[in-house]
Amino acid sequence: MCSLVQKYNVAGPRYTSYPTVPYWDTDQFSLQAWKEQLAQSFKDSNSKEGISLYIHLPFCESLCTFCGCHKRITKRHELELPYIQTLLEEWQLYHEILGERPRIAALHLGGGTPTFFSPSSLDRLLQGLFIRAEKTPDFDGSFEGHPNNTQREHLELFFAHGFKRVSFGVQDYNETVQKAIHRMQSFDQVKAVSDQAWEIGYTSVSHDLIYGLPLQSVSHMEDSIQKTLSISPQRISLYSYAHVPWIKGNGQRGFQDEDLPSPSLKRAQYETAKTQLLAAGYIEIGMDHFALPSDTLAIASKSGALHRNFMGYTHQHSRVLIGLGMSSISDCWGAFAQNEKNLEAYTHLVQQGILPAFRGHILTDQDLRLRTHISDLMCHFETQWTEDFEELPTILAALEPMAADALLRVHSNRIEITDKGRPFVRNVCMAFDARLQAKAPKKTLFSMTI
Ligand SMILES: C[S@@+](CC[C@H](N)C(=O)[O-])C[C@H]1O[C@@H](n2cnc3c(N)ncnc32)[C@H](O)[C@@H]1O
Ligand code: SF4
Repeated sequence: MCSLVQKYNVAGPRYTSYPTVPYWDTDQFSLQAWKEQLAQSFKDSNSKEGISLYIHLPFCESLCTFCGCHKRITKRHELELPYIQTLLEEWQLYHEILGERPRIAALHLGGGTPTFFSPSSLDRLLQGLFIRAEKTPDFDGSFEGHPNNTQREHLELFFAHGFKRVSFGVQDYNETVQKAIHRMQSFDQVKAVSDQAWEIGYTSVSHDLIYGLPLQSVSHMEDSIQKTLSISPQRISLYSYAHVPWIKGNGQRGFQDEDLPSPSLKRAQYETAKTQLLAAGYIEIGMDHFALPSDTLAIASKSGALHRNFMGYTHQHSRVLIGLGMSSISDCWGAFAQNEKNLEAYTHLVQQGILPAFRGHILTDQDLRLRTHISDLMCHFETQWTEDFEELPTILAALEPMAADALLRVHSNRIEITDKGRPFVRNVCMAFDARLQAKAPKKTLFSMTI
């Protein structure tokens, strides 16, 4: 495994979309084209599967120095209501494009820290959203809670609005690691909020853990997993630490590069955690996720119904994902659009009645073809085709070394990633990424694949 890690540990995308954001053809994008594509996809899907909604709540009181999310560090809670007002105005702008009352199948609130906002501010947001929409019968509502500031009132408020899932950021329980990433939080606190969620009636509590953090060792990982197992969350996201300081400025510079574990040590952390989780009855899902067999994600993974979008893995598929809030990305399968990443620029555009998207991409026929293969590989570790396609010879040639290393098997109309090859799924997808193959990035854009 060690030499394979050395061989394949390159900078590569995490494929929450194809084409990946740095490869969007922004010159071909216009707000008008985005609105037309969105309206068409919405018309085709609203009455069937409904739409997904993502809302970005960017504020955090304190900076965690590992964090790769779009956030604004502040203690000024007076920002809450104006931001919510802007979100609702943006939702109104979408309404005018959609023309028909949206049916919301999935709603996820992420950040930043949604629980930075008071329960009453969040209530105002949710009331405002649902005045103009309805929930599908199997509505899936979820939010990200910071264990240090999630109050019982937050959990009750979301539950009253039909939310049944919550994910808590844990990362690692070791104090040395917590100090290095500037995020002190106790096991007791995480256990208390998880227990409260279950008492209230949540059916899925998820914990986010990260491997590859500064000063983290295999035994820290082992201990964090042991502690996590004693709480038994339904889902565990075991993320590979994405060290991307060139994108996030100083945010990740709370430690030295030499404090980071080597690629092989990082891989050993993942393998140790995986062994513990499988032994405890969790099922490995896609890349970096685990769930108990009764969880919707595990059921979807087993039945082949798993999907992946900008929110990560989902058990439901909606052609339309609308992202509200600064930096959010929307996706209507044939096109992507991303909102302004700067809070003031985002607010300014919405206040002028303009959709706040500053860039996007309209997918070509080739993009749509490759997107399906990459999504299948990320979700099911295999992909197939009914007839040969233009890019196939180049893809097969790029996959040859991985097939020789037994990371995958190539059949006449199918590619299957082996158990040994699963850690290298991003590398396999890169062979399908025609845009990346055509033009290697001039500077580092992505985190390392392992
Ligand atoms: C928006 S944050 C979580 C919500 C809340 N702000 C909190 O910290 O608890 C979502 C998750 O992204 C993951 N994450 C953030 N930065 C990351 C990075 N650089 N590499 C890997 N995972 C990261 C963390 O596991 C984090 O819990
Ligand atoms: S990990 Fe969460 S709380 Fe920490 S800076 Fe990132 S978004 Fe904010």
